[in-house]
Amino acid sequence: MHPDQSLPATADNALRILPWQEGTKPLMLAPLQGLTNRAMRALFIDWVRPDVVFTEFMRVSNVSRKRLLRSDLKEVTSTTGDVPLIAQLVGNNSEALMAAARNAEAAGACHINLNMGCPYGRMTSGATGGAMLQHPDLLAEVIPALRTAISGTFSIKMRAGYNDPDQILSLLSLFEDAEVDFLVLHPRTVKQKYAGAADHSITGRVVRGTSLPVIANGDIRTAAEGLRILGETGAAGLMLGRGAIADPLLFERLRAQRTEEPTKAETAEMLHHYLNDLLARYSKLFCGERQILDKLKNVLMFIDTADFSAQISKMKRIRSIDAMHDMIEAFKP
Ligand SMILES: Cc1cc2nc3c(=O)[nH]c(=O)nc-3n(C[C@H](O)[C@H](O)[C@H](O)COP(=O)(O)O)c2cc1C
Repeated sequence: MHPDQSLPATADNALRILPWQEGTKPLMLAPLQGLTNRAMRALFIDWVRPDVVFTEFMRVSNVSRKRLLRSDLKEVTSTTGDVPLIAQLVGNNSEALMAAARNAEAAGACHINLNMGCPYGRMTSGATGGAMLQHPDLLAEVIPALRTAISGTFSIKMRAGYNDPDQILSLLSLFEDAEVDFLVLHPRTVKQKYAGAADHSITGRVVRGTSLPVIANGDIRTAAEGLRILGETGAAGLMLGRGAIADPLLFERLRAQRTEEPTKAETAEMLHHYLNDLLARYSKLFCGERQILDKLKNVLMFIDTADFSAQISKMKRIRSIDAMHDMIEAFKP
């Protein structure tokens, strides 16, 4: 426990330790379903060391007594060195979410996050993810209830609103009253899905409208963009998703440990290291040539470097690990 990380000591929050050191601006790796599994998180931690990482969302069943799957609990307990891991839940039933949070904490999770951003919520089991924003009554019930069940930090990752990008402003007092510890904001609406651009002027307004730390997320693809958003919004930190999957060194670029924009030779070197390491880790985590290649190709979908677009397109069609390995070796400087 680092003394600088403590929240102000009130009876309720004396034991809650934010997952970053006070006075620093954490750079977080976003939860990305199908991508940020424990092998990918370990690769990032060993290579570029995000300050905080998240599990992919874990669905909380309203019906099964087993609130979290055994495979999800394995993700929660995966070792991440001393980089804090936040367990993310998606669901809509207070009792079930509370039980799942206790489940996750019993398995070792110190930080729980509620997903209120996913625009593809399953409507069969009611509104979950971003769709929860259509039901303010549900939020007023679920969020305080979940707080009582969580002894570590409780954060919310959300869109700016369901259809109205200012909706979040009307929810801030609910989050504060419920003693949510911090917010992660992707400033698009749920209806917008991924169309248009993330509007970080909303992030700035939310930062000014709340005492809670706000982490800015959405469309951060270059160090210049990330630093601009930090400066203009006053956000407490940044979360990197697709930009980090395309270029893990974005973490180091933001810390000025690398050039802001890579040269072609640096991109080749990055791709060689990244894909080689990922192929090795995925070969241990997943079974069978087809699955390993499919998982790797999921990552290639996000690599959009103009310098190597022909090679990346070809790699997406490869059907053997040996051939994939040969193409990765061709990036070797
Ligand atoms: C393939 C994919 C999977 C995602 N999975 C999750 C998830 O499991 N939980 C979550 O809160 N957000 C998820 N998101 C949203 C991202 O965490 C992030 O909020 C969004 O992509 C915007 O950030 P970016 O522009 O840096 O990617 C996902 C996004 C993508 C593209």
